[in-house]
Parts: sequence; structure tokens; C-alpha cells
Amino acid sequence: MALDDHIERILWTENEISIRVSELASQISIDFKEFPSPVVVVGVATGAFLFLADLAKKIKLPIVVDLIRVESYGSGTESSGSPKISSDVKVDIRGKHVIVVEDIVDTGNTLCCVISHMQSKGALSVSVCAFLDKPARQKSHFELVGEGKFYRGFECPDYFVVGYGMDFAELYRNLPYVGILKPELYQ
Ligand code: PRP
Ligand code: MN
Ligand code: MG
Repeated sequence: MALDDHIERILWTENEISIRVSELASQISIDFKEFPSPVVVVGVATGAFLFLADLAKKIKLPIVVDLIRVESYGSGTESSGSPKISSDVKVDIRGKHVIVVEDIVDTGNTLCCVISHMQSKGALSVSVCAFLDKPARQKSHFELVGEGKFYRGFECPDYFVVGYGMDFAELYRNLPYVGILKPELYQ
């Protein structure tokens, strides 16, 4: 079965994603323009890898890019509730303004974990740029640090979505769009 045939329905096309990511990058470029030191943009691997790449290319400021690896879903569709940082950032966060880049905020557990981790490392502010936000499922309330801002690409309906970095059992991350898997593939 070809890759596209695994998808029941497309929620956001490659073109729609590109337009929205440009808008987010423009807003970030405006909001952080006057900041004296380069902003540290931290992508949450693995899911945020495509969003991070597209967003970073469109931010018209000198930024530092780094990655943190956090996992909570394993190979299933339900959050374990306790995300684990399996690989930390490389750059020094102390005294820096940080933007955490996430592919999706579902329960919010991962974001809570990353934000408090950045705060404990001495970030001056922590903002979040989430490609998708699924308010229907949010349990963990997260608080931004300092003058941190929240950026959201799209509000996601309550489906298990794949593509544009997001996986099911490590598959489908390479889809250039976001869609819903055919139910027979994950049930
Ligand atoms: C997924 C997704 C987010 C997180 C969101 O990561 O990429 O990071 O879950 O869920 P939450 O708000 O309920 O915590 P996952 O743990 O599947 O790891 P991955 O990025 O390597 O796929
Ligand atoms: Mn993730
Ligand atoms: Mg995953």
C-alpha cells in the first residue's frame, strides 16, 4: 500500500502548512526583534523536526537552534503521563530567551516537562511555538516563563493525527501534510 493510501483524511495540506508556518515565523521575527541576545529555539525531537526546520528557515533573526529529545508515547496512541528527557540541549540556556518548538500539545505533559526543565536551567523567558494544539485533551496546565509568549499554528480536533513530524509507532513522520490514519491501521 502506498503511503498516501494509509491516510483516511487530510486535515492540513502541505501548502496550508507552509502559509501558516510563514505567518508564525513573521510574528516571531517581529516579537523578538529588539532582544539584545540571540533567542534559543529548542525543538522537541523527534516530532518537531520538520516544523523546526521550516520555522527556523523563515525566522529573519540571528537565532541559536538546538534540540531536546523527549518521549512519552512510545509506540501507542496514549500518553504515558510521564515524559522522559532522553537527550538534553547542548547550548547554555542560562540568561537566554527560549522558544520551545513542539509539533503538538496533546495532554500538555511534554510541554510542562520541557518548560520546567528550561526554567531550572535558568532561562530568562520561555515561549512556546506549537504547530498544533489540542485543547480538548489538555490536562497539564503549563505556564510560560517571564515574558514568554504562546504561538499556535492550528487548533487540532480530537483525533490521533500523523504526518509533518508526527508518528504512529515511528511511521508517517515524513508525510508533508497532517492527516488521520485509517482506523484499521492502529486498532
Ligand atoms: C508526541 C508529540 C509531542 C507530545 C505531545 O511526542 O511529538 O511531543 O507527544 O503529547 P503530550 O502533550 O500529551 O505530552 P512523543 O512522545 O510521541 O515522542 P516523539 O516526538 O518522538 O514522537
Ligand atoms: Mn514529541
Ligand atoms: Mg510520538
